[in-house]
Amino acid sequence: MFRVIAGLTLCVGLAATAVAQDAKVARGEKLFVEQKCTLCHAVADKGNKKGPLDGVATKLKPEEIREWLTDAKGMTAKMKATRKPEMKAYTLPKEDVESLAAYLMTLKK
Ligand code: HEC
Repeated sequence: MFRVIAGLTLCVGLAATAVAQDAKVARGEKLFVEQKCTLCHAVADKGNKKGPLDGVATKLKPEEIREWLTDAKGMTAKMKATRKPEMKAYTLPKEDVESLAAYLMTLKK
């Protein structure tokens, strides 16, 4: 009996986590447009095609994606990015950074 209950609890827990993660990704996808990321970046050919982010999750580590969202200036220097206009430093609330990062992390090639 204990095993059944433990198993069920685990299932419900995992499902809840998956739902929360989906909501985060969906919010990130919305923020990507709301925060005008599409002025300089494109996903699946929507937005500025000079800065495609398709496959960014394969290229960058999660920490690096977060760093772009919190310290674009620092990352521009660190990655020696030369494309202009350069990415401005965003000051997004922590939840927005997490949602955007969750969304960008789904962009694998
Ligand atoms: C004013 C233009 C501009 C805007 C707006 C902008 N970026 Fe950028 N971003 C850049 C440039 C330039 C780079 C440097 C890499 C490159 O050349 O594409 C970059 C790099 C990145 C990278 C690393 C890409 C890589 O291939 O290494 C990520 C991730 C990113 N931006 C996410 C975002 C998100 C999310 C937003 C919206 C919150 C955003 N950017 C808004 C110009 C912009």
